Amino acid sequence: MKMRIDIVTLFPEVFRYFDISIIKKAKLKNIVNINIHNIRDFSEDKHRKVDDRPYGGGPGMVLQLQPIYKCLKFLAVYPNKSSKTKIILTKPGGVLWNQNFAKDFACNVERLVLICGHYQGVDNRVSEYFVDLEVSIGEYVLTGGEIPAMVIVDSIVRLIPGVLGNHLSTNKETYTDDIKYNYPLYTRPSVFTTEEGYTLSVPKILTEGNHKEIEKWKQQNINL
Ligand code: ADE
Repeated sequence: MKMRIDIVTLFPEVFRYFDISIIKKAKLKNIVNINIHNIRDFSEDKHRKVDDRPYGGGPGMVLQLQPIYKCLKFLAVYPNKSSKTKIILTKPGGVLWNQNFAKDFACNVERLVLICGHYQGVDNRVSEYFVDLEVSIGEYVLTGGEIPAMVIVDSIVRLIPGVLGNHLSTNKETYTDDIKYNYPLYTRPSVFTTEEGYTLSVPKILTEGNHKEIEKWKQQNINL
């Protein structure tokens, strides 16, 4: 099933990252379709203004409801949307994104709209009336929701079947039940000598080809 992702942002240029990286491959394979929308294009203000001062006072500016509403209408995810469509708003205080969310979205969501929060915040009516989930990517505050949106998209897209060359690679990784495969990795050369004269070697067992011993070593060295 092909997934469609729409990103609603004040900084569309940031998402050039999706034209390189593994996401580019997913796009070329026609597994995912990612569209970037500039919030400013939906402003009805003659100066294309998208923010204003908060009611009740306080610092900073608030992203207005009107352009976001118009953008969601343009995307046809309001007033009616399918149960397989989800709208996320990135927000420092949202629920913490994790691997289980990524798996759930990769498996069950056909259409994802990501609204990148900005300034002091977004008019709360966006959350009250349009958004399914407010998401934080960590307990720190960033300057905007673009990096969080990229993190969320990357974590989902790599789990869609067919995106990574090796289907096993999503299982043989570090999180949740996959934690058992988290042993240290090494590659050629097996011995590296620094310019200072130090010798940095790969554990001998790994280079000797005894598969039983190698397996034992892996089990003993998980999570190092
Ligand atoms: N916007 C600013 N900081 C954020 C964070 N940590 N997660 C999601 N959105 C944010």
